Amino acid sequence: MTSVTRNIFGNLSDGKTVEMFLLESNFVKAEIISFGCIITRLETKDKHGNFTDIVLGFDSLEGYLNKHPYFGAVVGRVANRIANGKFSVDGQDYQLPINNGPNSIHGGLKGFDKVLWKPEEIENGVQFSYTSADGEEGYPGELKVLVTYTLLGSELTINYKARTSKTTPINLTNHSYFNLSGQGSENIYDHEIFIDAEHYLPVDDNMIPTGEIVPVQGTCFDLRKPVELGSQIAKLSRNGFDHNFCLRMTEKQQYCTRVYHKPSGRVLTVRTTKPGVQFYTANFLDGSLKGKGGAVYPKHSAFCLETQAWPDAVNKPQFPNTLLHPGEEYDQTTWFNFSVQ
Ligand code: BGC
Repeated sequence: MTSVTRNIFGNLSDGKTVEMFLLESNFVKAEIISFGCIITRLETKDKHGNFTDIVLGFDSLEGYLNKHPYFGAVVGRVANRIANGKFSVDGQDYQLPINNGPNSIHGGLKGFDKVLWKPEEIENGVQFSYTSADGEEGYPGELKVLVTYTLLGSELTINYKARTSKTTPINLTNHSYFNLSGQGSENIYDHEIFIDAEHYLPVDDNMIPTGEIVPVQGTCFDLRKPVELGSQIAKLSRNGFDHNFCLRMTEKQQYCTRVYHKPSGRVLTVRTTKPGVQFYTANFLDGSLKGKGGAVYPKHSAFCLETQAWPDAVNKPQFPNTLLHPGEEYDQTTWFNFSVQ
C-alpha cells in the first residue's frame, strides 16, 4: 500500500500555490511538486534499512524558481538538443528560442520544468496535467500532456501521455540527478553502471549527434558489463558521459540500465518504453548552487538517466521518429526500481 499525502510547498509570485505530494511505501518516500512535476526528494533504504535522500535539489521553492540545471523536473516539449533550434514539419519551418550554445535545449526558455501543472491525487500516486498552447516556445500545435507518478513497493513509475492539434516533435523525460550514496556526497566515482546498449551516438563540439550510430564494442561506451564510474570517466576524452545510448527499437518495456553503489548496497534499475537514454554524469555542475541542507554539488556529484527519444531526431530521418500527429497518442513509461544488494 502506498500512502499519498498532499501539502503546500510554496507560492508563486502571482499568488498561485505549488502543491507537494508525498508518496510513501515501505521502501521509498518520494516528494513531487506541481511546479515542473519536480521530484524534490527521493528517500530509499540502504542495506541496513536506513532511508537517505538520493536526489539533488533544493529545500524550498525559491531554489527551483532560480536558474538551475533541471533538478528532478519533467522536461519538454522536447527534451535534449535540437540543432540551431530549427526544424521543418509539414513543409513549414520552425525556429525555437536558442538557449544552449547555438541550440535549443529542454523545451526552451520556459519549458515544462518551469510551469505550474494541475495536480490530481490518484491511487498510489499523483497525476499532473498541462496544456501547452499552440506556438508556446515556438512549437506547433496545442499539446495536452498528462504525467503520472505511481509508487508501488520499491518501484516508482512515470507515465507520459500527450495529444496534439498539429504535428509536433515531442520527447518527455524526467531529469533527476541521483547519487546513491545520498545527495550532497562528493562524487559518483564508486558507483558501478551497466547500460544494455549496443550503440551510442557520438556528438560534435556543440553536443549535437553527428548522425552516426556507432557500436559501443571496443570503446569507453561499452557498458554492457558493469564498470566503475570513476575509472571509466577517467578514460574519456570529454569530461564525463553526456551521450545518448541507443536501446532496442521496441515500444515495449525493456531493461535499460542498472546502477550499483556497493558501500550503501543501493541498486537502481531502470526500464523504459523509449528508444534511448541520455547518460549524463553532471559534468556541468560546478559547486556554485546551494542545495538541500546546505549541500554543494560539484562536477560528477550525480548522474542522470534521461530515458528519451534520440537527440535532434526531428532533423535526422535515420533516427527513430519523434513526431506526434493529430489523432495519435504519445504514451511512454519509465520504471525506476530501488533495491539493495
Ligand atoms: C544534457 C546536458 C545538460 C543537462 C542540463 C542534459 O540532458 O545532456 O548537456 O548540461 O541536461 O541542462
